[in-house]
Amino acid sequence: MIVIEASILSANYARLGEQAREAEAAGVDAIQIDVMDGSFVPDITFGPGVVRALRLLVSVPLDVDLMIVKPERHLAAFADAGADRLIAHWEACTHPYRVLQSIHELGVEAGVAIGPGTSLSSLEELLELVDMIQIMTVNPGWGGQPFLHSQLDKIRRLRHMLDERGLDVPIGVDGGIDTTTAPLVVSAGATMMVSGSSIYNDKASVAQNVAALRASVA
Ligand code: DX5
Repeated sequence: MIVIEASILSANYARLGEQAREAEAAGVDAIQIDVMDGSFVPDITFGPGVVRALRLLVSVPLDVDLMIVKPERHLAAFADAGADRLIAHWEACTHPYRVLQSIHELGVEAGVAIGPGTSLSSLEELLELVDMIQIMTVNPGWGGQPFLHSQLDKIRRLRHMLDERGLDVPIGVDGGIDTTTAPLVVSAGATMMVSGSSIYNDKASVAQNVAALRASVA
């Protein structure tokens, strides 16, 4: 089963609650909240308060993608706000092993993300610790960017790395996922994908866009 997550980064912030509910009604498996601090990535987006507000509105899991420096400072606040998973970006962590341990100590799922320029070898010592790995198929920081096809081989190599170790850790993909690229990442071994601008746009409704994504990987 392919997990599809709606990223609210491209949602209408004046109607964020409704947009989250629309995604849930459209059948997404989770909602990803892209937290940006203006340091790790240029933009500034959401804080724990938004997670807390959405927690009251939807029952699907809330997946918080922490595109922030020193994520250890905010883990407890996001977990307390209702996050079901916290994803730390490897490049933002001085001590990634400790960050992942800390996330588990808070009782939520721990994910690690790596950007297009970061090699899989960076993850080797973390594979036993994570509940999922997110491969960024765009440079973190913006929605609506073109998919980086160069990352497909990385997904395949990561799947091989995990299989070699007998680890069934799911691979998530984030960035530029649409009906064309979704089948490519699934063929490469991904079983989770995040989509923002392909779900929230003025071309079709959230329900139509989610249905099209789901059909593209059926
Ligand atoms: C990048 C963000 C985006 C977002 C999805 O920092 O993490 O990848 O989740 O955006 P789209 O689907 O518009 O590429």
